[in-house]
Amino acid sequence: MRLLVCGGAGFIGSTFVRQRLLERADEVTVLDKLTYAGREENFHDFADHPSFRFLRGAIEDPAAVAGAIDAAPPDAIVNFAAETHVDRSISEPDAFVSTHALGTYVLLEAARARRLRYLQVSTDEVYGSIDTGAFTEGSPLRPSSPYSATKAGADLLVQSYFHTYELPAVICRGSNNYGPYQYPEKLIPLMILNALHGDPLPVYGDGMQVRNWIHSTDFARAIGQVLEHGAPGEVYNAGGPDEQPNIAVVERILELTGAEGSLIEHISDRPGHDRRYSLSSEKVRALGWTPRVRFADGLEQTVAWYRENRWWWEPIRSGDYREYYERQYGRSLG
Ligand code: NAD
Ligand code: TYD
Repeated sequence: MRLLVCGGAGFIGSTFVRQRLLERADEVTVLDKLTYAGREENFHDFADHPSFRFLRGAIEDPAAVAGAIDAAPPDAIVNFAAETHVDRSISEPDAFVSTHALGTYVLLEAARARRLRYLQVSTDEVYGSIDTGAFTEGSPLRPSSPYSATKAGADLLVQSYFHTYELPAVICRGSNNYGPYQYPEKLIPLMILNALHGDPLPVYGDGMQVRNWIHSTDFARAIGQVLEHGAPGEVYNAGGPDEQPNIAVVERILELTGAEGSLIEHISDRPGHDRRYSLSSEKVRALGWTPRVRFADGLEQTVAWYRENRWWWEPIRSGDYREYYERQYGRSLG
């Protein structure tokens, strides 16, 4: 396939591009604005691939989107481009609204004008929190943060383009991802890097919030499966094989890094914090997908990756991220 991958310089987008280039022999153009989370370093092992092209630009810019499509006319648009951190959406929601609402609209219009297949990458957070059981694709949308509310709005707009214009659009909603190349504002890489540096590990509230962890390579394969075999207009959930309370994840990271248990620090809870996420994935499993990485193995491999790839995270941890960390946690990184 020839793909236009928006947001392909981020954590999951670059994992997807790597798979499609190296395992599926697709041709891939990435359009990415390179926000703080988008990094050309994520292309390090395929930047020179003859079927890969990178263009810097924003999805809310119609000229940039048209330019990317004209540079290499695709069969499909896959949209990963997003602001992705709940805490940033609470303190600075602006970019969440423009990228998710306006950006998705611009991409949908470009797909409609050319009758392109369209895949929207979405999240379990659009369903809100669930105490027991798991969300299915038919569960109501009850987002609780500016991040999840604007992602839900984008999903509804995608569905409207299917119903109104018969755009062949699909949505794939993932649970919490982890793995190599994840920006260290997120729970797992933040805790790994703090543990390696002897910095306190800031656990929100009681740490008993539960997340349904999926390895990024598994989510990327689910997206590929939905892109190739999903029925137009449908939503497919892709949840990981394991659920864990945050405190158990943090304690395991302490063991894997050999850091002291006294580094754990319970801090004020996130406002509106969702207690538990859980996704039923039967529909995408029926397309032939199954997750391959269990959390225990994936977490161990992820800790090893961060240990071995200082070149990747050192520039982040010594740059703007330090200022973000001070604003968010009221203390500096060691
Ligand atoms: P990320 O923050 O690592 O990467 C986001 C990418 O989008 C970056 O490369 C950034 O530069 C780019 N981007 C942001 N705004 C843009 C804009 N206006 N125009 C063009 N590019 C822009 O995010 P991620 O964790 O890789 O998430 C990718 C997608 O997967 C998002 O849509 C997210 O909602 C979804 N998702 C993430 C998770 C998770 O746990 N990380 C789980 C489920 C779904
Ligand atoms: P995060 O990685 O931000 O993902 P999401 O909010 O999308 O689930 O957070 C995962 C969980 O970890 C969530 O319950 C919040 C919690 N958390 C902490 O306890 N401390 C932290 O410093 C961070 C970043 C997250």
